Amino acid sequence: MFENKITVLDFGGQYAHLITKRIRHLGVYADIKHPDIGVEELGRPGGVILSGGPSSVYSEEAPPFNRELLTTGIPMLGLCYGMHLMAFLLGGEVRRLDRREYGRAELDIAASSPLWAGLKEHELVWMSHGDSVIAPPPGFEVIGKTGDCPVAALGSESRKIYGLQFHPEVKDTPSGDRILTNFIAICGLEKNWSMEGYIKSKMEEVQTQVGDRNVFLLVSGGVDSTVTFTLLNEALGEDRILGLHIDTGLMRKNETAGVKDALRNLDFHNLKVIDRTDDFLKAVEGLTDPQEKRKAIGDEFIYVKDRELTALNLDPDRWLLGQGTLYPDIIESGGSRHADVIKTHHNRTDMIKEMVEKGLVIEPLDQLYKDEVREVGEHLGLPHELVWRHPFPGPGLGVRVLCTKGGESSSDYKDTAETVSSKAESEGYASVILPVRSVGVQGDSRTYAHPAAVEGKLDWERLDLLSTDITNEIDGINRVVLKIGGGALKPMVSKAATLTRDRLELIREADNEAMTVLKEHGLYEKIFQMPVVLLPVSTEGSMECVVVRALESSDVMTARFFRMPPESVAEIADRILALGGVEYVFYDLTNKPPGTFEWE
Ligand code: XMP
Repeated sequence: MFENKITVLDFGGQYAHLITKRIRHLGVYADIKHPDIGVEELGRPGGVILSGGPSSVYSEEAPPFNRELLTTGIPMLGLCYGMHLMAFLLGGEVRRLDRREYGRAELDIAASSPLWAGLKEHELVWMSHGDSVIAPPPGFEVIGKTGDCPVAALGSESRKIYGLQFHPEVKDTPSGDRILTNFIAICGLEKNWSMEGYIKSKMEEVQTQVGDRNVFLLVSGGVDSTVTFTLLNEALGEDRILGLHIDTGLMRKNETAGVKDALRNLDFHNLKVIDRTDDFLKAVEGLTDPQEKRKAIGDEFIYVKDRELTALNLDPDRWLLGQGTLYPDIIESGGSRHADVIKTHHNRTDMIKEMVEKGLVIEPLDQLYKDEVREVGEHLGLPHELVWRHPFPGPGLGVRVLCTKGGESSSDYKDTAETVSSKAESEGYASVILPVRSVGVQGDSRTYAHPAAVEGKLDWERLDLLSTDITNEIDGINRVVLKIGGGALKPMVSKAATLTRDRLELIREADNEAMTVLKEHGLYEKIFQMPVVLLPVSTEGSMECVVVRALESSDVMTARFFRMPPESVAEIADRILALGGVEYVFYDLTNKPPGTFEWE
């Protein structure tokens, strides 16, 4: 007997999560494991998919793989690198290409196969690869080819092992879902994965795990913790759950009230709120360096959280700790892959790790992806607006209030300013260098450089080209912003500024105005995320500037600035200027890369 699921072996990059999400979307549960997993530990999933990855089969750094897995008789599908590896280990020939080939290609079906059921003779597929299989292993047949790639798909019907050079999991392969559905059928799996089913079985599981004990959990106000809290309340009843919301002072306007109201409307009254603004402000007092600020906020959060847990003195025999940890967090924190250093896993402090080991932690969403959590939230009756909120970084508005020692001036960067201005002027725009640094991404590292501000016609396509040209060509400039509010653009100076109550209040109000306009204009759900950032710069050095950074993205790794209707842009600028204390409002024209989402 096999388990009704597919296991994806992760060879790196983004592919494994993408494949897992696609398979679940098609109605079958999928999980991710390391490729060196032993046969016994793997168990009997109905099928295994070997993901793509950045390696070459000839590279010494290629992730270790347990080749015994190929003899288990479990149906297998290798994608890109996964295909090369299988072909190579089973005796086929793999050629190393000097450069990666990527883009769309036309696949010709070369032999019939159950993997091709319902497909046409020619299909568009999306390729991205460094190596290529040039001869299939003995017993394998070439079942598909493209102009450049004579072995674009191979298979052995008797062993139920297949390999595809292209990526069926990406949207650019229009028949990708059909091919994955065919593989699911080859594995003999039943399509029984749904959020209703998940909620039902999770509730039963929670009841069994908790027994007659209780659950305590922190509710930040984000989607994950709110959904966890709601699910636990539904499963166990509010008398056995205690929620704690820590107001860090770095939250958005009405954040705490919004969560409280939503939960009250569901008839839950078991959320305790404590205000720790003073502690957080003290932790960042006097700091101007972005990473020091981030670390101070992260450390303070862990400190407050652990202190509250200790102060509550919950009898560990009676109380479990609930957490809104999601599947990707579990994979990252347990895995060998590098976890992004800037994103601390609040859910895995030393104290909590110890509790996990003792079985004292309950994480009912730990098999789910964000989209699935949102679906669960809607099924449980949480309001649509709460469930579909934009993502918000852990350190909150703390990373959206830029701090400096002051004393910098636009005129300090004359040479750069001249180069920027010759490019901007040729397109009909005036320009100024902002005397503050912001973060960007170049390759794998974060870089700090200056933004250039331009003033002129709101013509998104022309501005996109100008922004790309400036950031590509001019060293020391990693962002371009357009002035959308305030007087004529003039050189500026920076003032000494840290993370204070007043500055947080100003950015909270500005953020609220901007978000209100998005909602009123029906734009909120068209935008992935929109940081609103406070800069300690102005012409006289006494005021501030605000930047609005609206982004479209599907995976946070890359993003394009949002082409907002001009009337919405104008209304956001007017409302922010009306708050007072703000000299200019800017709109960020930088894609990612070279600019990150956040400004520090
Ligand atoms: P960047 O700025 O790296 O942001 O392009 C990508 C996504 O990550 C979020 N982000 C953070 N989230 N702690 C978090 O929990 C952080 O320190 C942090 N920095 C950035 C950002 O909001 C975006 O969604």
